[in-house]
Amino acid sequence: MKICVTGGAGFIGSVMVQMLVKNYPEDEIVCLDKLTYAGNLENLKAVENAPNYKFVKGDIADREFIFDLFKKEKFDVIINFAAETHVDRSVEHPEEFIRTNVMGTTTLLDACREFGIKRYHQVSTDEVYGDLPLDRPDLFFDETTPIHASSPYSAAKASADLFVMAYYRTFGVPVTISRCSNNYGQYQFPEKLIPLMISRAEADEALPVYGTGENVRDWLHVEDHCKAIDLIVRKGRVGEIYNIGGHNERTNLQVVKTILDALGKPESLIKYVKDRPGHDRRYAINPTKIETELGWEPTWNFDTGIRQTIQWYIDNEDWWKRILSGEYQDYFKEMYKDRV
Ligand code: NAD
Ligand code: DAU
Repeated sequence: MKICVTGGAGFIGSVMVQMLVKNYPEDEIVCLDKLTYAGNLENLKAVENAPNYKFVKGDIADREFIFDLFKKEKFDVIINFAAETHVDRSVEHPEEFIRTNVMGTTTLLDACREFGIKRYHQVSTDEVYGDLPLDRPDLFFDETTPIHASSPYSAAKASADLFVMAYYRTFGVPVTISRCSNNYGQYQFPEKLIPLMISRAEADEALPVYGTGENVRDWLHVEDHCKAIDLIVRKGRVGEIYNIGGHNERTNLQVVKTILDALGKPESLIKYVKDRPGHDRRYAINPTKIETELGWEPTWNFDTGIRQTIQWYIDNEDWWKRILSGEYQDYFKEMYKDRV
């Protein structure tokens, strides 16, 4: 099979690319990425010389480029991770979220129609369901929960999901969608809660907790997310949506205190700041469908996974320091100056 992973230089996509390259040497894996501020080829160093791997720089919303690429490469499977992903950025500048997350997705779907792709998988998010109240721990998102997005980011992701299902029903494009909860692990861009707090605590800087810190997220290790996607692509039923989550709910304050404790830093570093506009209160996934239908189960326990992740950021300070200084963007120019 020839598999195109879009957004493969980002946090989750790079884990997916490495998993596919290593576990399926008979498959050809093409990583397609625009290399926005969030894309970093350093994340893919481990596979950059693998014989079944190739990198292509490009924009999923560039129709001419995408159609040319599909014509040339004859992909069997597309796994679409490419997106603008940070909620706070979407509050400041929604336009790029509409362009990449909606127009990019429909461009890929049009190319799938034209070139008869065997499977299109959309990597979506639990944020499309909106949020749950903090005083109803009995409530969870399942695949029948209505879409009820809160932020420009989640509205764009929800819109993309609607197009994916419309292309399935109207044109018969063979699609699947996964909706996962918050991921954590190595190589996450240091604007998201966990790496941001680790990098700031390491530098003895204030940790900005939005509102009261009582908002709840349902954390899943990035490797468990990618294993679930691999299962869905190979064994999932066409036209189906699968929720992914591991029942690891924590308040933001609990996560921040775990980080401070692991780093031996004082809780006085916590600074409560103005809340995120429209801040979702609680996410919580019911993963019964993927567990019973596909036999998926998470392998990481949050308490072990978060400690290992914190240790990774301590051991790989150079990686996030290069990002914070902007230096990492030179890596592409240096590595690929003779290749693209
Ligand atoms: P990320 O921001 O780390 O990476 C996004 C990648 O997409 C980057 O490499 C970027 O260069 C690339 N990209 C952006 N615009 C592009 C374009 N127009 N064309 C081609 N490439 C482009 O994101 P992430 O956290 O790895 O998330 C990946 C996917 O998973 C997203 O679709 C996101 O909605 C979804 N998701 C994320 C989480 C999470 O907790 N991070 C949870 C559930 C779902
Ligand atoms: O649920 C899946 C989603 O998880 C993905 O679809 C998104 O792409 C991903 O970014 C993530 O969204 P969140 O908004 O939940 O993640 P973020 O790391 O931005 O924030 C996590 C929580 O921490 C949220 O309640 C806001 C809070 N927060 C975040 C930051 C950056 C703070 O209190 N302070 C901060 O500085």
